[in-house]
Amino acid sequence: MAAASSWCLVVVMVVALCVGGGAAQLCEDYYDCTCPDAYDIVRRVLIEAHKSDTRIFASLIRLHFHDCFVQGCDASLLLDTVPGMPSEKTSPPPAPNNNSARGFPVVDDVKAALEDACPGVVSCADILALAAEISVELSGGPGWGVLLGRLDGMTSDFNGSLDLPAPTDNLTVLRQKFDKLNLNDVDLVALSGGHTFGRVRCQFVTDRLYNFSGTGRPDPTMDFAYRSFLSQRCPPNGPPAALNDLDPTTPDTFDNHYYTNIEASRGFLQSDQELKSSPEAGGTTAPIVDRFASSQGAFFASFAQSMINMGNLGPVTDPSMGEVRTNCRKVNGS
Ligand code: HEM
Ligand SMILES: *[C@@H]1O[C@H](CO)[C@@H](O)[C@H](O)[C@H]1NC(C)=O
Ligand SMILES: *[C@@H]1O[C@H](CO)[C@@H](O)[C@H](O)[C@H]1NC(C)=O
Ligand SMILES: *[C@@H]1O[C@H](CO)[C@@H](O)[C@H](O)[C@H]1NC(C)=O
Ligand SMILES: *[C@@H]1O[C@H](CO)[C@@H](O)[C@H](O)[C@H]1NC(C)=O
Repeated sequence: MAAASSWCLVVVMVVALCVGGGAAQLCEDYYDCTCPDAYDIVRRVLIEAHKSDTRIFASLIRLHFHDCFVQGCDASLLLDTVPGMPSEKTSPPPAPNNNSARGFPVVDDVKAALEDACPGVVSCADILALAAEISVELSGGPGWGVLLGRLDGMTSDFNGSLDLPAPTDNLTVLRQKFDKLNLNDVDLVALSGGHTFGRVRCQFVTDRLYNFSGTGRPDPTMDFAYRSFLSQRCPPNGPPAALNDLDPTTPDTFDNHYYTNIEASRGFLQSDQELKSSPEAGGTTAPIVDRFASSQGAFFASFAQSMINMGNLGPVTDPSMGEVRTNCRKVNGS
């Protein structure tokens, strides 16, 4: 900090930048001169929000994921619908956002607090990256040095949301969708560990409970006792939006129970269980699930690295291609 601030004195303090980085590079100290308290400000708002919403940490990391997978980490997800440009956040099934992605008002609160402290400096895309890391750490997971310096894009890609992975995707499709973004099997398995906390609606498990892939039978890769448990919570004609824990053992803690659940055939989504039970998993993802199930440390180390990999997707760093939005929901001047 002392080194950073004396360095700041001799440099124009109004421009945030990555020293020595290439043009399209992110760095940890991007805001050290222009908004040194950015991290603490985000953290404070998140802790406050969590007091009335225990689910918020899970919801926020999912926003960063859904932002980064569509058009890169450019806060395209956060733009509200305007005439001619429907928002990604309203993309309905089979795209995964409408009535599902949540936490937007908390992002607004973070933005407002940052605009108070350092107007026009911290991008909404970086807010999502910071909120994801802080959410994991506050839930008992690993910390990592968040790379910063993304600008906010000017468009939202409604149809691009269809490229996000779906809960009924098999392992082949999941691997293809990650590979398309240069994310490998370790990234796929580690990032799926995000399902160690948060909630999921019944509608995403009813086919596995009652009529898997149109077979008229339950998914044979689901543990019998877990199926009985979920059948109580999600009866055939029950409310499809009823909420369940993605990890019933420790619902709000970031730990490696996601993997120990999968080892016991207790993954909630088909896409979760596929990582271990797909015929294709043997030589690919299953050994990684095994490794993370037996070592939380191995999971945490990979998760941190994979979050950085995901956070590096398509960042906008060229000022002619992006901006720092003053309101995360709107392009400046619109
Ligand atoms: C690998 C493919 C993935 C699929 C198919 C998938 C699918 C889903 C689905 C269907 C839900 C429940 C949505 C609802 O009930 O409305 C969900 C929730 C969630 N997902 Fe994923 N997801 C995937 C990867 C990820 C990744 C990479 C992360 C983060 C690193 C993540 C974090 C979360 C979290 C935290 C929740 C709970 C959110 C909340 O409680 O608000 N997911 N996911
Ligand atoms: C999103 O959901 C809301 C509330 O259910 C609905 O009114 C709206 O039409 C949906 N948006 C899209 C684009 O389907
Ligand atoms: C999304 O795709 C559909 C079907 O191709 C098309 O009709 C629609 O105009 C697209 N919407 C946007 C906003 O691009
Ligand atoms: C996986 O899903 C895709 C798309 O639905 C399908 O073409 C493929 O045959 C499936 N693979 C396996 C092994 O089931
Ligand atoms: C299961 O799904 C298939 C295909 O969607 C459907 O034809 C069949 O009637 C369903 N069976 C039951 C028992 O609901």
